[in-house]
Amino acid sequence: MRSAPFTLLLSAFLCTIGCSDDGDGGAGGAGGQGATGGTGGATGGTSTSAGGTSASTSGTGSATGGTSASTGDASSSTGDASSSASGTGGSGGGMAVRTPAASASTLREAGEKANPPILIGAAISGGGLNNADYKRVAAAEHNYVTAENEMKWDALEPNPGQFSWGAADNIVNWARTNNMKVKGHTLVWHNQLPGWANSLSGATQVEQAIRRHIENVMGHFKDRVDTWDVVNEAVITDSDTGVGNPRMRPSVFFNALGERYLDLAFEIAREQDPDAKLYYNDYSIDALNEKADFVYEMIKGMVERGVPIDGVGFQMHIGPPNNEAGGADVAANLRRFADLGLEVLISEMDINRCSNQVTAEEQLTYYHDIVEACFVMPECTGITFWGINDGRSWLNGWAGALCNGQSSQSLLFNDQYQKKETYNRVMDALMGR
Ligand code: G3I
Repeated sequence: MRSAPFTLLLSAFLCTIGCSDDGDGGAGGAGGQGATGGTGGATGGTSTSAGGTSASTSGTGSATGGTSASTGDASSSTGDASSSASGTGGSGGGMAVRTPAASASTLREAGEKANPPILIGAAISGGGLNNADYKRVAAAEHNYVTAENEMKWDALEPNPGQFSWGAADNIVNWARTNNMKVKGHTLVWHNQLPGWANSLSGATQVEQAIRRHIENVMGHFKDRVDTWDVVNEAVITDSDTGVGNPRMRPSVFFNALGERYLDLAFEIAREQDPDAKLYYNDYSIDALNEKADFVYEMIKGMVERGVPIDGVGFQMHIGPPNNEAGGADVAANLRRFADLGLEVLISEMDINRCSNQVTAEEQLTYYHDIVEACFVMPECTGITFWGINDGRSWLNGWAGALCNGQSSQSLLFNDQYQKKETYNRVMDALMGR
C-alpha cells in the first residue's frame, strides 16, 4: 500500500503562520489564499477564485442555518490574507489553514463550525430515502447532497427534449427540508446516457443536445441547486488506477466536438447561472499519477482560456478498482490545482477494502489522512462520501468493481447504521486531531 503518514507536524508548523484561536486567522486562508498570486491585501479587494471559495463557504453556512458569525469570520478573514501570503513558498499563494471547531458531535457540525466552514456531503439515493434510519443518519451527519443517480442524463431526459423531474425533485426537496445544500451531478457525462443521446452524431446535433439539456436542467433547479458537476470523467487511461496513456475519453461528445465540448458545457452553464459554482469531476486523479497530470494540464488550459470553471472534484474512490493515494500525495495534488485559483473538493469518497486487499488499518489511515489533507486547505470546500452505509454502496453491486460480490466495507456506517471506526477517524481529521 502506498499510504504515507500525513503531516501533523506540517499542520502544527502551518498553525504558527496561519492559525489563531479567535477564529479569524484560520479563515484568513479562504479569502487570502491568493492562489493566483497571493495578492490578498488588507482590504481583501483582490478578487481571486480562492476568494470565491470563501464566499461559497459562507453561503453554505447560511444555507445550513450557519450563524452570521461564521459568515463574518470568513469574510473578515480576507483582510488577514497578507499576513500569511508569504508562508508557502509555493506558486505565489499564501498557505493558511482551516481552523477546526472547538467541539462537535456530528460530522456536519464539525464542518459548519470550522473556520472557514467546510461542506460535509453524501451521495443520496432515492431508494435510501425510503428507509428511516438512512434518512436520520444522512441528515444528522451531512449538509451537502449529491443525487447518486437521479440527476444523470438518462434519469432526467429519457427522451429527447422530454424531461422527467420526479425522482430528482424528491431528493432535492428532501435535502432542502433538512437544510442541506445540493450539488447537481452531472450535466455532461459519457455514462448513463439514454440510448437516443448515444446515437447523436455531428457537431450541430450534439451541441444542440448539450445546450438543451443544460438549459432545461439548470433552469428547472434554479434557486435550489447552485453547485454543479458540469463535466464528469472526460479523461481515460489504460488502467482505472489512472496509469497508462492518459487521453481524452472517446464519447458522443468528444467524438463530435473534440475537447472543446468541455469549454462549451461550462460556457452554457455559466450563461444559465452567473453565480453557480461550476466544477469538473473525475476519478483516480487523487494521487500524483499520469491521469492527474493530464487533467491538471487540461484544467490549466481552461483557466488560461478564461473558461468559467470554479473548481475540481477529486472523486477519491480509493482502492480497487481505482487508485490508492496517501495523504501527502493528495495534499500535494490538491495544492497544485488550488494554485490555479480554483476550489478543490473531495467529491465521492469511499475506500474499498475489497475483502482484505486494503487492510482495516490501511483504510483507517487513508480516511484520516486524506480528509485531513482537504480539511486543512481553505480552498477545499467540501468532502462528500459516496453513500451512507456499507450495505448500500455501489461497490457491492456494480459489475465494474473488482470486488463485486465481496465485501467492500467502504463507508462510515455499517448495515445497522452504526458508526464504524472509519467514522471516528474522519471525525478526528475534521477536529484537527
Ligand atoms: O435503474 C436501473 C434499474 O431499472 C435496473 O433494474 C437495474 C438493473 O441492473 O439497474 C438500475 O440502474 C443501475 C443504477 O446504478 C441505479 O441503481 C445501473 O445498473 C448501475 O450501473 C448504476 O450504477 C451507478 C454507477 O454510477 C453507474 O455508472 C452507481 O449506482 C453510482 O453510484 C455510480 O456513481 C458514479 C458517479 O456517478 C460518477 N463517479 C463514479 C461513481 C461510481 O461508479
